[in-house]
Amino acid sequence: MLPRFLRPTITIATQNGAKQLSTSSQRNAKVAVMGASGGIGQPLSLLLKQSPLVTELSLYDVVNTPGVAADLSHINTASKVTGFTGPDELKQSLKGVQVVVIPAGVPRKPGMSRDDLFNTNASIVRDLAQAVAEVAPKAFVAIISNPVNSTVPIASEVFQKAGVYDPNRIFGVTTLDIVRANAFIGEAKGLDPQKVSVPVIGGHSGITIIPLISQATPSVSFPQDQLKALTERIQEAGTEVVKAKAGTGSATLSMAYAGARFAFSLIRALNGESNVVECSYVRSNVTEAKYFSTPVVLGKNGVEKNLGLGKLSDFESKLLAAAIPELKKNIQKGEDFINKK
Ligand code: NAD
Ligand code: LMR
Repeated sequence: MLPRFLRPTITIATQNGAKQLSTSSQRNAKVAVMGASGGIGQPLSLLLKQSPLVTELSLYDVVNTPGVAADLSHINTASKVTGFTGPDELKQSLKGVQVVVIPAGVPRKPGMSRDDLFNTNASIVRDLAQAVAEVAPKAFVAIISNPVNSTVPIASEVFQKAGVYDPNRIFGVTTLDIVRANAFIGEAKGLDPQKVSVPVIGGHSGITIIPLISQATPSVSFPQDQLKALTERIQEAGTEVVKAKAGTGSATLSMAYAGARFAFSLIRALNGESNVVECSYVRSNVTEAKYFSTPVVLGKNGVEKNLGLGKLSDFESKLLAAAIPELKKNIQKGEDFINKK
């Protein structure tokens, strides 16, 4: 059985005229993947291609998109796949899209922090955001490219400068942190990880990743030493993969899974499904950090409601206090990149 987020849903009329959801195909979306030929881009595009939630798939990269698009287009699902290559085709790739997913940019090698990617990835995200702001300013933009703590402020500043900024439509994708937390806690407690739900808040790097194990469903508890070890494993899980891949890149397959889950949640929200909730790194006034990930309710216009922090344990409050200065620094760096030129 496919995980719930990979199963299609449909909005149907009920007796009282209200809408509810069941499984089948439905109104859906044109999605663009920017960086589609990469380690994340290819499996992410595959997951999107197999979903009836996607009617059109626009694949943009600076290399290899004709091959990726030709390959995917032979899959017998209804969505139409088109490849676009290089800056001359960038704007065309964004025409009419409702959801833009951005995994473009370089990944880490062992010994690097996500912030070490800033010099290369900041301008990639800036240029892609500029094109989205011009061609598809109302699209939902889901940013995977690292360092997410800074690339989301970069895209937001670009949209602001273009006069089309809607903070409810720009998302940093932190879903992989949630997927990992669910996997690790499921494993530790012998639970089906598909049935575990752990909110992870804050940002997407090291100490800014704050798993809220006290708010897990089903409720779980651990001795303090095990809680600390699990928390640190979730915070450093990206590095675990970078080390294991030994110089060939970072998480791609689990990220594609997480990115698809997030994109499908965005499309479900666009389709009018209620109670679509994901943690995402968004513009926020929940803490002192201008961007912060918390569970948010998604709707037709993006973030409908920020569900905030919930009740934190003492241990989690300390994690939060440690994360804020680092997050503020990362955010400032992203904003300065656009504004101090
Ligand atoms: P990769 O090198 O395999 O693929 C990146 C792709 O981006 C390549 O195909 C490349 O040609 C393309 N690209 C480069 N410049 C571009 C541009 N200007 N426009 C469009 N495409 C461009 O890397 P990857 O493993 O797919 O990782 C991509 C990014 O995702 C990295 O920054 C990585 O750190 C990040 N990442 C984030 C998360 C997360 O949880 N948010 C998880 C894993 C990886
Ligand atoms: C991850 O969490 O796997 C990504 O952010 C990639 C990385 O560099 O760790």
